[in-house]
Order: sequence, then C-alpha cells, then structure tokens
Amino acid sequence: MTFLVTGATGKVGRHVVEHLLRAGQPVRALTRDPARAALPAPVDVVRGDLTAPETLAAAFDGVVGVHLLTMGGDDYATLRTGPELAELMGKAGVQRVTLLWNGQVGPVEEAFAHSSLEWTRLQPVDFMSNALGWAPAIRAEGEVREPFADVPGGIVDEADVGAVSARVLVDGGHVGRTYALTGPQALSQRQRLDTIAQAIGRPLRLTELTERQARDRWRQAGHSEELIELLVAWQSNPPSESTTISPAVREITGRAPRSFADWVAAHADRFR
Ligand SMILES: NC(=O)c1ccc[n+]([C@@H]2O[C@H](COP(=O)([O-])OP(=O)(O)OC[C@H]3O[C@@H](n4cnc5c(N)ncnc54)[C@H](OP(=O)(O)O)[C@@H]3O)[C@@H](O)[C@H]2O)c1
Repeated sequence: MTFLVTGATGKVGRHVVEHLLRAGQPVRALTRDPARAALPAPVDVVRGDLTAPETLAAAFDGVVGVHLLTMGGDDYATLRTGPELAELMGKAGVQRVTLLWNGQVGPVEEAFAHSSLEWTRLQPVDFMSNALGWAPAIRAEGEVREPFADVPGGIVDEADVGAVSARVLVDGGHVGRTYALTGPQALSQRQRLDTIAQAIGRPLRLTELTERQARDRWRQAGHSEELIELLVAWQSNPPSESTTISPAVREITGRAPRSFADWVAAHADRFR
C-alpha cells in the first residue's frame, strides 16, 4: 500500500512527500510533467492531470491515502472533476483523503462529502513563503507595494501544512473534520515586512496600493477575474479561520507551528 501526493511538485506537496518518507511510508507523486518533478529517489513519480480523470486510473492502484488539491490548473481554477476522482478512488480501494482546501465548497469537496471515503479538509489561508515574492523588490529598492497593508492574517509555514497532512494520512482518524491551519500569530503585511527588516537589519518601506491599483496589477500579471475576486476577498476581509489562531498544527503534529520570525531567519539571505 502506498500514499499518493498530488501537487507533489508544489509548495505544500513537497513537504507532504518529505514527511511521509520520514515516517517510512512508500510515496507516489502525481505531476503533469515527470521530467521536471525533481522529487527524491524513493518516490514513484507518475504522470497525470487532475482535470483529465482518464489520465489517473493507474495512479490510484494500491493507494491507501491521497493528499488532494482542490484546484486544477496554474491559476487556482476550481477543480471540477470531484465526482470522477471520488469514484476512481472508491473503485481503487483508497481509504482516506486530505483535501487542501481554500474555504470554498466546490465539486471536489461536495463529491467527497457524499462519498464513503474518510476525508479531512486542511484549510491554510496564506503561506509564509508568499513573502518570497517580495524578495526582488526588497533587494532592489527596499520597498514593497501591497493593498490592505494593515489587515492581519494567520500565515502558516507550508512545511507545517505538509506535516499535518502526512500525519492525518498515516494515522487516520480526523474523519469529516475541517482544520484551519495557522502559525502562532496573525500578522498584517506591514508587520511581516517589519519582521523581514529586523532580520536583515535594514529599514524597508511599504507603499499601500488602493484596491483598484491591486486589481490592475493582478490583471497585468494575467490572473483570472475569479482569482482576483478571491485575492481581494482573502486580503481585505480574511475569513475568521485566518485571524483566529488555530491549535491544529500543535495538536496533530505534537509540536508548535513555526513562527514567521523563525521562517524569515531561515530565509534571510533571499532578502539581502
Ligand atoms: N499560495 C497560498 O498562499 C495558498 C494559501 C492557501 C491555500 N492554498 C491552496 O494551496 C493549493 C496549492 O497552491 P500553491 O500556491 O501552493 O501552488 P503549488 O502547490 O506550489 O503549485 C501548484 C501544484 O499543483 C499541481 N497542479 C496544478 N494543476 C494540476 C493539474 N491539473 N493536475 C495535477 N496537478 C496539478 C502542480 O503540479 P505539476 O505542475 O507538477 O503538474 C503543482 O505541484 C491551492 O489549492 C491553493 O488554493 C494556497
């Protein structure tokens, strides 16, 4: 029996793979392009596309648990193949699924809620590593531009999300539960930038964008209108799951979630 990690080449998935391997479990990884996967040797890398269920039949063979994305594309488009995925997994004898959830009930969440599989939803809102998007501007100008600069959000290290997913998949239990996943503090964009400034010993400036300027910037970056609406909603008025500090990382992994200050200390060279 093995564990299938979808999004294994991505931010959370790589950590799920690492934690499963550390727990001595066999791991299969799904990617649309095995040649670019760069996953550690014991991993069985298979090609497949979550938006095309016909590419997935073999991926679920002998699988006991699946870490599953609920998006299916490079622009966070909602994954619409939930019913097909639940059926394929049911037929293959998969027992449990962790859903990397963005808080919106879509076809994947609905399909698993009505399936006989054991499912658990993991709901991180914002990842610490998103701050790496600031690195070029910090290095070049010492300035970043963001909307909603003083709205706090409970960022989490995606390594902690990966650790939670691996524990749930291996240990079982947690059936039908939804876990918001945060670090130990909710921090605004301004507070995050101040944390980076302290770590690199250099003053940094935050220039606040209006919502309109932010929408224009995201459009220029090629984001869909659906994603832009999601970004505005998340950043201007984060869900209570984001601003309420969650005990889930500690309860499930047995250790405290990483703080943003610790994350920055480990990545400080990227901002210098
Ligand atoms: N970024 C955030 O702050 C954040 C916060 C909360 C929740 N999330 C959620 O986390 C999830 C991942 O987001 P991310 O930003 O961290 O991206 P990511 O996981 O770093 O990268 C996307 C991953 O999805 C895989 N993928 C995309 N479309 C696929 C498809 N059609 N079939 C199979 N695999 C596919 C890619 O695999 P290949 O390219 O190898 O095929 C890649 O591993 C999303 O569901 C998002 O809603 C993100």
